[in-house]
Amino acid sequence: KKKVVLFASGRGSNATALYEAMRDGRIWGEAAALVCDMPQAAIIQQAQQWGLPIILADRKKFSDQHAFETYILEKIAPFQPDLLCLAGFMRILSAYFVAAYEGKIINIHPALLPSFRGLHAQRQAFEAGVKITGCTVHFVTAQMDDGPIIVQAAVPVYESDTVQTLAERILRKEHPSFIKAVALFCADKLQIKGHTVYGTDTGEEA
Ligand code: GAR
Repeated sequence: KKKVVLFASGRGSNATALYEAMRDGRIWGEAAALVCDMPQAAIIQQAQQWGLPIILADRKKFSDQHAFETYILEKIAPFQPDLLCLAGFMRILSAYFVAAYEGKIINIHPALLPSFRGLHAQRQAFEAGVKITGCTVHFVTAQMDDGPIIVQAAVPVYESDTVQTLAERILRKEHPSFIKAVALFCADKLQIKGHTVYGTDTGEEA
């Protein structure tokens, strides 16, 4: 089984979806630890209940980004992770960090990249008036929200929507999309050529 380290900053519904999919065998992986940058995050309590090792790295406690990232790298190294999953992790990781796990970091973003990069992607889509948005699961590179795309799922925007109802509809697509991408990675099915990921045409929608 692949050893997977989950990164999350808040509620942790994506981390929970991945954890449960690993526990029940939909993903051939094993959750090794949780990295969290927010001491008050709900996902910390959840991880405690699971008995999952928790690495708390509060960015404010570090003098700079490099020290923050070095701490995380040192703490995750003993788990010998095969994959890092950024599941609602609200910090950008620098080229220094990404180089240490090149091709082994997967992120979920609540929009159809390359549209609406960065924070509040659901609000950005809502305000842009698009009729379709969605979510993207992609490999992480040093450029924010720009790595090779593994899975995307489309979500309609309705006239009755608020940012919140739209975000909820996107979230319901995020969980199966993330599970599908991580399951394929853990089964060694994904190949990156240039900026394109192959091996995702499973005949199933995320
Ligand atoms: C999710 O919608 C995720 O896509 C988004 O944060 C939310 C976390 O929810 N991530 C980003 O915006 C990354 N820039 P969760 O904690 O319940 O998984």
